[in-house]
Amino acid sequence: MRDDRDHSYHFDLEKIGERHTASEQSCISALLGAIDLDSGARALIVEQAVKYAEQTRMDFAAQSTVDHLLQEYGLATEEGVELMRLCEALIRTPDFATARLLVRDKFLNADWASHAGGSSHFLVNRATNGLQVAQSWIQRSGGKQGRSLAAKIGDYPLAVAVLRTMRLLGGHFVFAQSIGTALKKARKTKELFSFDMLGEAAYTEADSEKYFDAYLGATRAIVEASDRRKTVSENHGISVKLSALHPRYEYAKRDTCVPVIARRLVEICKEAKRGNIGVTIDAEETERLEVSLLVMEQLLAAPELADWDGLGIVVQAYQRRASRLVEELIRLSKLHRRRLCVRLVKGAYWDSEIKRAQELGLESYPVFTRRATTDLSYLGCAKLLLDTEKWIYPQFASHNAHTLAAIQHLAGDFENYEFQRLHGMGETLHEAVVKTSRLNSRIYAPIGNYHDLLPYLVRRLIENGANSSFLNQLMNEEVTLAELVKDPVAIAMSGQPAQHPKIPDPRDICGGARLSGLGVDTAQQKVE
Ligand code: FAD
Ligand code: 2OP
Repeated sequence: MRDDRDHSYHFDLEKIGERHTASEQSCISALLGAIDLDSGARALIVEQAVKYAEQTRMDFAAQSTVDHLLQEYGLATEEGVELMRLCEALIRTPDFATARLLVRDKFLNADWASHAGGSSHFLVNRATNGLQVAQSWIQRSGGKQGRSLAAKIGDYPLAVAVLRTMRLLGGHFVFAQSIGTALKKARKTKELFSFDMLGEAAYTEADSEKYFDAYLGATRAIVEASDRRKTVSENHGISVKLSALHPRYEYAKRDTCVPVIARRLVEICKEAKRGNIGVTIDAEETERLEVSLLVMEQLLAAPELADWDGLGIVVQAYQRRASRLVEELIRLSKLHRRRLCVRLVKGAYWDSEIKRAQELGLESYPVFTRRATTDLSYLGCAKLLLDTEKWIYPQFASHNAHTLAAIQHLAGDFENYEFQRLHGMGETLHEAVVKTSRLNSRIYAPIGNYHDLLPYLVRRLIENGANSSFLNQLMNEEVTLAELVKDPVAIAMSGQPAQHPKIPDPRDICGGARLSGLGVDTAQQKVE
């Protein structure tokens, strides 16, 4: 990407973009140089991480039904994938006639019997029995089609049971249905929250107005419930997805969408400033990054928002350009003399990033292809954020014991940062981590109803169901503690190929000599 603008007061999109699809090896070399942890320090981190993991694992039996369900039906099993497909499609199926055919299709050929008695949780085993009974009903009443009247009537309780399970899953990851209820629940604990009004990717102007009203109303309610004498880091906050605020939140439409989104966000931020609470801009798909930075520039420069420490942005460590982005955030926060909150995450859209790059026929991927490299990138970004001290308030969001132990080691005595976790995930681990310090662990708390839940729920099911995820491995007793808390620096230095052997470059996915067509990434074109 070429960016000829005057960079004194703008993000240098060209500099950030140089790493967009840079080779993974070149990114790893740069990260290893920056992280600077000797083998003694790394051994201490692993030792601490093992302690955290051990304490958390001991608690596994007491984990929720949903955790056990996701363990038994993880995405490494065919049945887990079938259930995931069913959940994803069913919630979007408006009519019963189609819904029952969908359920029949997904239930019929899966090997539910292989899960019988497989879980240590009786409710999960009961659910497996239920799945087997349902399957045998489908077989007896006409298979995939089930045309008879008896089948149509008998399918009703089946579809209802599946929807009820979906609600159980949703209820696990969603904090409350309305901001009023959420604040009431929050008052009963000492925890800090960043509330998120579910809803994203507005399709119409009317949708985006509805979401804007929801965010603004929620911000007002949080402000009313907050104490403005406290600092931003002591108050609850709100997280906002920009795709909810404009139906064409796209780089190609920047001239029209940036002013509207910036205007709406300034309204939300002015309100937040009144109560001294934080507003964090969530990170979404990689192609949104440039346009989100154009919005961010406007917020940094907005005079109405001066003297407010609550403006925040999310950085995804799985992006190859993550550390460049952090460098630019630090540069601009210093320049504007505005403290920025930076939430560091690994990134929730990995699968769709891989798919999009393959569909577009890009030269390479914008994300790393090994989890260990994302872990390494997280540490590289964390080091930059912690070294900056005054101009950045770092917020480390992760549910991985090694990552959290490494942050504590990198931070040393410096305690002006916080940890964050998602509601319904990593609770025991975070308790173990913060009880040894004065640090806070803030909870990202989604609020909303069933209809706006789907994309968020699917990301959580992928995250918890993937066998590469730390939480999934933690709950799998076959994974030893040593395997669980592997040191990403040692992996990077082990000499293994940087690119995952099962993930060829996007244009090579057909195999052999045939290259797929070279596509155009409209989010990466020249900035006029
Ligand atoms: P780990 O198990 O250590 O790591 C899993 C992560 O590694 C995956 O999610 C993925 O990012 C990465 N990964 C997995 N496989 C590979 C691979 N083959 N190659 C490279 N990388 C891989 N996410 C967003 O995108 N935007 C947000 O705004 C956002 N906000 C969040 C706020 C909070 C408070 C929290 C806790 C999370 C947020 N997330 C957000 C979600 C976050 O990205 C995931 O929870 C996170 O990636 C899981 O990381 P972990 O350290 O907990 O788990
Ligand atoms: C997501 O919506 C938590 O922002 C993150 O998946």
